[in-house]
Amino acid sequence: MTDTQPASPAPQSGGGSSPSLENLLHETRTFPPSEEFAAQANATAELYEAARADRLAFWAEQANTLLTWRTPFTETLDWSDAPVARWFADGSLNAAYNAVDRHVEAGHGDRVAFHFEGEPGDTRTITYADLQREVSKAANALTELGVRTGDRVVVYMPMLIESVVAMLACARIGAPHSVVFGGFSADALRSRIADAEAKLVITADGGYRKGAPSALKPAVDEALAGEGAESVEKVLVVRRTEQEVAWTEGRDVWWHDVVDGASDQHEPVWVEAEHPLFILYTSGTTGKPKGILHTTGGYLTQAAYTHRNVFDLKPESDVYWCSADIGWVTGHSYIVYGPLTNGATQVLYEGTPDTPHKGRWWELVEKYKVSIFYTAPTAIRACMKWGDDIPAGFDLSSLRLLGSVGEPINPEAWMWYREHIGGGTAPIVDTWWQTETGAIMISPLPGVTATKPGSAQVPLPGISADVVDDEANAVPNGSGGYLVLSEPWPSMLRGIWGDLERYKETYWSRYEGLYFAGDGAKKDDDGDIWLLGRVDDVMNVSGHRLSTTEIESALVSNDIVAEAAVVGAADETTGQAVVAFVILRGEHADRAATDDGAAEVQTELRNHVAKEIGPIAKPKRILVVPELPKTRSGKIMRRLLRDIAEDRQVGDATTLADSSVMDKIAAGLKAPS
Ligand code: WT7
Repeated sequence: MTDTQPASPAPQSGGGSSPSLENLLHETRTFPPSEEFAAQANATAELYEAARADRLAFWAEQANTLLTWRTPFTETLDWSDAPVARWFADGSLNAAYNAVDRHVEAGHGDRVAFHFEGEPGDTRTITYADLQREVSKAANALTELGVRTGDRVVVYMPMLIESVVAMLACARIGAPHSVVFGGFSADALRSRIADAEAKLVITADGGYRKGAPSALKPAVDEALAGEGAESVEKVLVVRRTEQEVAWTEGRDVWWHDVVDGASDQHEPVWVEAEHPLFILYTSGTTGKPKGILHTTGGYLTQAAYTHRNVFDLKPESDVYWCSADIGWVTGHSYIVYGPLTNGATQVLYEGTPDTPHKGRWWELVEKYKVSIFYTAPTAIRACMKWGDDIPAGFDLSSLRLLGSVGEPINPEAWMWYREHIGGGTAPIVDTWWQTETGAIMISPLPGVTATKPGSAQVPLPGISADVVDDEANAVPNGSGGYLVLSEPWPSMLRGIWGDLERYKETYWSRYEGLYFAGDGAKKDDDGDIWLLGRVDDVMNVSGHRLSTTEIESALVSNDIVAEAAVVGAADETTGQAVVAFVILRGEHADRAATDDGAAEVQTELRNHVAKEIGPIAKPKRILVVPELPKTRSGKIMRRLLRDIAEDRQVGDATTLADSSVMDKIAAGLKAPS
């Protein structure tokens, strides 16, 4: 915990779009499930009963009914090496077999797995039988390229069918994948490749974004040219945009050259339940991203269980669409592993929601008759801003269930989603979880829970979550505190890649025996949980996690910057926005004293952050200041900077080493240039 920690838990952003304690106390609307929905729902109240009666037996039952095991397990949970759990450890299985082959074997080979829609409007339909052939071919190709069970493969791709095939091919041979979001920079890619010591990188020439081809391969070339990426032997490149690409002979290989001609017969590698399935990097409170490790059996069990019950999936009739990118955990669990394990038919869309027009998503819902839609509050707020008439121009009557994830959804956005997208009837599931939890943890169950706009409400059957105070006491209803998870769960992370100590320190040292999630939360009078945002130095911008420290390091790595402090400020659309305070070196400070100079410095630094981390991390505002507010121990008091960034009266500054600093900062910002 840092000095910037609020004494009593409070949301990071004081107003704007995140729900504050204040307005949540006034939220009293509830929406009980309709009788028709409840009558057909997968989930029933008995799930809670069963899980409460015998939690481990409950999970064993889920694992046995939702997955196909090669060797059955006999032990459900081994927690003797806590906080590293082992679930179903003596069983063996294969994730790709569960996601694909067994559906074909069960006679569903003709069922559509994906309706792919490229941003330019090109389409491709792929059935489960097609997917089985593609994944088998790719698995053979990976083996041919020297990838062995246990080797790490980095996937740096746009949203294509091949991206899913690449992930499943890795799973099929037991080579853990590490997907790096295509919006990350070459530097960010290199550090992830280096940390995972990846042997192979799978990428594409580029993808379509906002109406134009956007290159990816050059970033891979740049990443591999730098130090630390020596482990990479081959680069497998999918042709998508047909842009010119630089080619390194002996290293680079076209996907169509090695995959298309490979045999479509492949025996999956049966792995132990605890075999690593993937590593996914996420930002923490320090500059170095954490490689979150997930294993096979437990992860797949909870991904499938939550997808079936929270989204009420009926594989024969539903068309499910999750708008996330596969570069984030939502894409892993709710595009690849959960839905495919359940045999779902999905929409996979390559591009942005406003290309070529702001109704593109709703056009796709109409076209494919999407019945279940899962997206993030930031996207909902953007659509709200674009106007009600846009979704009103499409037939959205196929939608019967809506989901939200990534950040607290403010009640206004929730109500808009319900009215304008869900036709006033579709239940909304607000799902709380994290990269670390692997799958949904807190959410209403559709057909069972009466929903409340803005609240994720209740831990799922089988999950134990609570809100506690500083001393780990559960807070009474009506009070706030910190969200903790009190029992191990199947899809929990098994550690941070290569750094077990950091795993223990980050999640398990704050409270004895409890997993500390890093979120503030409140229990209302009914005991329902309301998430209030991060309580650590992690920001949430458009549902993406960004570390203040990481952006500060990026800024300071620029020659003109002497010191930097970054805060997340409440933002109407993105939830939080990155605001940076920088002290410039010598003559650059003078340069920034004029309006033109300041604008120039801002552009320079914003581009620098985009290059170091990626465009998503670009500060929205950069304020040049003479000093930063620090405590006597030298910690930056971000709370005070947040007050400035959110145009609030600056709070209590008495613990500052130099109490005049805030006046100097304020004077500088107001001074005419
Ligand atoms: C953090 C995890 C889980 C996939 C997307 C983000 C915030 C996530 C909710 C929600 C309130 C939420 C939390 C959490 N968060 N879902 N429904 N309500 N906050 O994954 O990048 O690992 O971020 O996102 O702050 O700790 P992630």
